[in-house]
Amino acid sequence: MAAISVEPCTFALFGALGDLALRKLFPALYQLDRAGLLHAQTRLLALAREAGSAQDHLNSIEAHLRKHVPEADIEAPALERFLARLDYQHLDFLQPEGYQALAAQVPDGHPLIAYFATAAVVYGAISENLDKAGLSERTRVVLEKPIGHDLESSRRVNDAVARFFPESRVYRIDHYLGKETVQNLIALRFANSLFETQWNQNSISHVEITVAEKVGIEGRWGYFDKAGQLRDMIQNHLLQLLCLIAMDPPSELSADAIRDEKVKVLKALAPITGDGLSTRVVRGQYIAGYSDGKPVPGYLEEDNANSQSDTETFVALRADIRNWRWSGVPFYLRTGKRMPQKLSQIVIHFKETPHYIFAPEQRLQVGNKLIIRLQPDEGISLRVMTKEQGLDKGMQLRSGPLQLNFSDAWRSARIPDAYERLLLEVMRGNQNLFVRKDEIEYAWKWCDQLIAGWRNTGDAPKPYAAGSWGPMSSIALITRDGRAWYGDI
Ligand code: BG6
Repeated sequence: MAAISVEPCTFALFGALGDLALRKLFPALYQLDRAGLLHAQTRLLALAREAGSAQDHLNSIEAHLRKHVPEADIEAPALERFLARLDYQHLDFLQPEGYQALAAQVPDGHPLIAYFATAAVVYGAISENLDKAGLSERTRVVLEKPIGHDLESSRRVNDAVARFFPESRVYRIDHYLGKETVQNLIALRFANSLFETQWNQNSISHVEITVAEKVGIEGRWGYFDKAGQLRDMIQNHLLQLLCLIAMDPPSELSADAIRDEKVKVLKALAPITGDGLSTRVVRGQYIAGYSDGKPVPGYLEEDNANSQSDTETFVALRADIRNWRWSGVPFYLRTGKRMPQKLSQIVIHFKETPHYIFAPEQRLQVGNKLIIRLQPDEGISLRVMTKEQGLDKGMQLRSGPLQLNFSDAWRSARIPDAYERLLLEVMRGNQNLFVRKDEIEYAWKWCDQLIAGWRNTGDAPKPYAAGSWGPMSSIALITRDGRAWYGDI
């Protein structure tokens, strides 16, 4: 029996035959249904422009569901219930006509959740057509990223939606905010007094955020090449993680209180300009190399690639936050495709003790670290110094973990996918885990100055071999400050 009660709604998925819907959104909706978190009267509408019979499309959705949901989670009664509440409607998103048929499917009293899993350029047109069909008053809209490719284009999209929907009914997705460990970061920081007194430049020397992916471009070359790793990952996921670490405690757990604090961090980010473009940022592009011991092509040799592209597939940078709490504490961000492993983690490095009394050769390993692992092996570990056991060890120090591994700690509980959490929160009308318009815009503003700087210098991205941790200069970026990327890397 689910502890959370959710009101009935009609959930309309625009772009229902696209990759995101088939790979992530339908499986997430199915898991919510299986967990008893969809109201008995909730209806699901798959909307797409593709012609063909509705039944064929529904069959295809079911086939993808079976492929993307673990076999053990496919339970006949749950699947039957899920398919019974799912319908397909052919809809040309740009034409108002079909929206009347959509309106006819939304029972009186149901809120409509309109999930836009389409290109952002049509968000405005869909919003207008929902309004013309008399649906806007009871609709919550969910916007997938990317919302624009710079500040100006993101404003255009946001403004086009805002003509019909107030901010309180706009849910902008950053799926990293739905990851279980990311939410745990909020609990860790604001439900434990232990950390808050240490959470500033008096105690923390620097912070690392790594989001590494093993995959390359996976058939998305055309899309990715127009974006690049800065727009695709830093502008959203990594800056959101930075905000959650750096923000001040909100006065309450409400969407706006949290988002107000995140915006303050984004506004305090120092622009990276002038010499900083060569000393504080590294752009990379992978060349041929190895993944799991097998040869893989370089970015410019992938299917449909333009061999002249100078789009980056890797970024490492040092961000500085200009406020009392973080003055002098660099945040090193690093993200790339075709790295040796999939790894997302945050490492908070605490300062050394003010006076060191142990053997000099042990000094390098001293220092507490809080490691927040998003994937794989979600968990949080605090590395503390202790003494090696044994009479023969003298005062030999060792750095060991105090560990909270989520999958071990709650073995019986499945770790939900980020989209499950986010879809559930939209149904509950809770915006805490969604990104407000001004957050997106300040994040773009900061990234835009960096992109403009790159454009002016005209420097090509630095090559790195597929299967490596990025260009050598990304190591220099941190060693220049007398530090190293954490650990097993
Ligand atoms: C998406 C990016 O937002 O996040 C992709 O567009 C990237 O390029 C993906 O692969 C990574 O998400 P996750 O949850 O697999 O780390």
